[in-house]
Amino acid sequence: MKITMIIIPTLIPSRFHSSMSKSRVNKKEVYYFKEEYCNENETIVEIINKDLQQYFKPPILDVGSGIGDIAFKSFKGKKTILIDVNPITKHDYPCRPKHVRKQADFLEFKSKEQINTILISHTLQFIDEDIEELNGKIEELKPEYLVMVLNKNNDFMGEVIEWTNEHFAISNPEVRIDNFPLGYNLIKSVPFVAEIICEDFETLAQQISYLMLIDLKEKKQEILTFLKTNLQTPSFTFNQSIDVYHRL
Ligand SMILES: C[S@@+](CC[C@H](N)C(=O)[O-])C[C@H]1O[C@@H](n2cnc3c(N)ncnc32)[C@H](O)[C@@H]1O
Repeated sequence: MKITMIIIPTLIPSRFHSSMSKSRVNKKEVYYFKEEYCNENETIVEIINKDLQQYFKPPILDVGSGIGDIAFKSFKGKKTILIDVNPITKHDYPCRPKHVRKQADFLEFKSKEQINTILISHTLQFIDEDIEELNGKIEELKPEYLVMVLNKNNDFMGEVIEWTNEHFAISNPEVRIDNFPLGYNLIKSVPFVAEIICEDFETLAQQISYLMLIDLKEKKQEILTFLKTNLQTPSFTFNQSIDVYHRL
């Protein structure tokens, strides 16, 4: 959900008209965050494999699959469609024989076969601009299970979001949505803690700009000061959960 600060039009500086916010992340950014700086996918895979396999009923649709590592490590032998708006390249992570990668926008995605489970792991912020449309897409696909991986934002990540809202005209962090998913019951929630560790504060600032979808160049010094004031080292832990919803 894009968070927009209300600004009186006459006060909008001209730089806000161009590239006000990032609305996308590229493959390299996803790769570096997931593989170099944050351990979340390791834990997500561990939890799915240990406790949640029964909720991943194939065919599975992995929405915004990113690297594709979660599907590769958790859905072996299960028919899975990995979709992402980013292009497919020959350098991509390997794909299991029963898996297929497609370049597609979830909101335009159609399937002739019934999808039984949809996974939305850290992709909600990119598809929640119009909640009615998003609920409509879920209603159209009618999966039996919808599994979401989301930050709780009740910790330093929440403070970062608050700071970002105060300092940036537009940002787009991952936030939970009250009326999504409609027509589903939360049947299980597995909490976990992830950690971001960077070699220096500049790198951490880059990762924050990736998470908040803000343009680092706009206020790099301010972000650095905020991080250095609040953290002793360029690292922090943050709460997340894997939430399993069942169709009513
Ligand atoms: C933060 S990454 C999460 C990757 C992966 N799900 C994970 O947890 O490791 C979000 C991914 O969603 C993709 N994405 C953004 N908008 C999308 C859309 N409308 N439809 C499908 N994928 C989208 C991005 O390209 C990016 O790869």
